[in-house]
Amino acid sequence: MTIAPKAACLVTGCAGFIGSHLTDALLASGHPVVGVDIRPRAEAVNLAGAFADPRFHYMERDINEHGVLAAARQVCPDIRHVFHLAAVVMVAFSMDHPELTMATNSTATRALHEESVAAGAQAFIFAGSAAEYGDDPRLPLKEEYATDDTEQASPYGKAKYLSSRLMQTSGFGCSLRFFNIFGPRQDPSSPYSGVISKFITQAVAGKDLTIFGDGGQTRDFIYVSDVIRSYLIAGGILPNPRTGTAEPLAGIFNVGTGSIMSINELAQQAIRSAGASSAILHAPARAGDIYHSQADIDLFTRTTGFTPDVDFLSGLNQTVDWFRSTR
Ligand SMILES: NC(=O)c1ccc[n+]([C@@H]2O[C@H](COP(=O)([O-])OP(=O)(O)OC[C@H]3O[C@@H](n4cnc5c(N)ncnc54)[C@H](O)[C@@H]3O)[C@@H](O)[C@H]2O)c1
Repeated sequence: MTIAPKAACLVTGCAGFIGSHLTDALLASGHPVVGVDIRPRAEAVNLAGAFADPRFHYMERDINEHGVLAAARQVCPDIRHVFHLAAVVMVAFSMDHPELTMATNSTATRALHEESVAAGAQAFIFAGSAAEYGDDPRLPLKEEYATDDTEQASPYGKAKYLSSRLMQTSGFGCSLRFFNIFGPRQDPSSPYSGVISKFITQAVAGKDLTIFGDGGQTRDFIYVSDVIRSYLIAGGILPNPRTGTAEPLAGIFNVGTGSIMSINELAQQAIRSAGASSAILHAPARAGDIYHSQADIDLFTRTTGFTPDVDFLSGLNQTVDWFRSTR
């Protein structure tokens, strides 16, 4: 019996935190991957495992240079699943660079989406964001709360909203609206990195933790392995547990846990998990940051049967272990 080869996948933003985990998972499930990222290969340290796999092809490229899928198909003609993660990811940076943010997070998404439709791709999965909801007080946040009238707090949130809406209005493609993702490989080095990776690196190094604002802000934290599972189901790589068939999703779906934690609680827990005695300091709140965020995950759960597997504390402890191992 011959086994049909698995379809190839395109992952933009493959060198980043989530993109590298997704690339590893796709390769592990037998799919060749073309990974696109603006980072030079030598700086793509998250892809060490992928580079050892002959089914992985890396393309250093800016997604603002349109024609990404055509270029990837020159390397791997049979790309059927497109996972689009490359983006300006820092909210504060987006406030200072609105044009670059709109070009990268909205215009380039539209161009890649158009190419994917024209090329007959089966799946287009876009990385949406909780920032699309602005500072909406109706918690937990339901997908339909973000509308054309929503005032996002940043160009990042606005551009993500425009791209998610494209998935809905075009009838092709899916936006997974992620809440706060954490886990190994999340970059702690920039001033605007994910709060968990920053707190853990500070605590593991015995440094004090700095909270912007009063720390009463809440977030819905989801561990990266759960996010990758949501990607594989939405992209039609894994069977939908609800229907038993592997079919790409269309539309907009929140992906979070539905539970929240305050930044003050998080700081205390990060210090405990790291076994540290760091102090907690407060600095002024940052422009563009929203105060409360909590996902209503009912739509994704009803559609796919997906529920997060990893509880917050064990995810945090695995992340602490990883940061220790990289010191
Ligand atoms: N981490 C989170 O909590 C979270 C939450 C919601 C949404 N998201 C979205 O998920 C996606 C991945 O986020 P992440 O946390 O892995 O970020 P990341 O910064 O680790 O990865 C993003 C990758 O995109 C690449 N990139 C940026 N601009 C590019 C360009 N113009 N052309 C090609 N590559 C480019 C970067 O080099 C980087 O490797 C992003 O779209 C982000 O907005 C992340």
